Amino acid sequence: MLTPAEDADVCEHVYIIEGDLILESEKETVKLGKNDFFSFSNIKNTILMRCNVPVTFIYVTSKPMFNRVKMYFSNLDELIKKVDEKDHYTKTHCEHVTNYAIAISRNMKCSTSIVEKLALSALFHDVGKCYIPDHILQKPDKLTPEESKAIYKHPIHSKELVEPNFGEEIANIVLCHHERLNGSGYPQGIFGDQIPLESRIIAVADSFDAITTKRPYNSPKNFKDAVEELLGMPDLYDMRAVRALKKLVDSGEIYKLCNNHVNIITSGEEEDNK
Ligand SMILES: [Fe+2]
Ligand SMILES: [Fe+2]
Repeated sequence: MLTPAEDADVCEHVYIIEGDLILESEKETVKLGKNDFFSFSNIKNTILMRCNVPVTFIYVTSKPMFNRVKMYFSNLDELIKKVDEKDHYTKTHCEHVTNYAIAISRNMKCSTSIVEKLALSALFHDVGKCYIPDHILQKPDKLTPEESKAIYKHPIHSKELVEPNFGEEIANIVLCHHERLNGSGYPQGIFGDQIPLESRIIAVADSFDAITTKRPYNSPKNFKDAVEELLGMPDLYDMRAVRALKKLVDSGEIYKLCNNHVNIITSGEEEDNK
């Protein structure tokens, strides 16, 4: 993400050594390749940078703006890795949810600002799981009410960890990722539009990944069955987001978003989707 700098005099340059980089703003999308370069200074709106293949580039700036953001990311990323050491699931899960949530929002024609907020909040939505005791996180059997209570607190912990780094709005999106439209979610039990749109999109991406991933306590469903299951729950999930997800499944685009996931059921599915 390239965001407007606090200091208008900052000038930044990018030179691409290998791979392709896609720059997206509200107005246009530009694809750049090997040996392309660009400079930016005093930008007014956020520009998203994304890539479908690994990219190597040289970044030069007149002021070390990048370092602060990089530090925020590495602090939270360390915590995600710690949770992942306990349950071997969270890191991949967070990456999947981020990919799914961004693709859903693009399909819904959401603004770049919403996509930008999703990129940050989805990536760290479960970071608060680092406070859940190991024996609960790793338990294969049904949780006791007391253990469930510990799980229900993770969005609050995620909010507390994210807020000092990314601010109140991102923190609130993270806080609300387990809320449901009919008020049956947690931790606040809020309803419908009280839940930020970004949180409703993450809820769909999050549940979709949980349904399609092999875990000690469930057998995974294939992508088509998973999306049908979500379509059957309009009281819980935002149907605009679920319909956008269905388009990704029907077109097969979904497979590009979860490449390295060993536990996902894909065998024979790609055939069905064509
Ligand atoms: Fe969660
Ligand atoms: Fe999650």
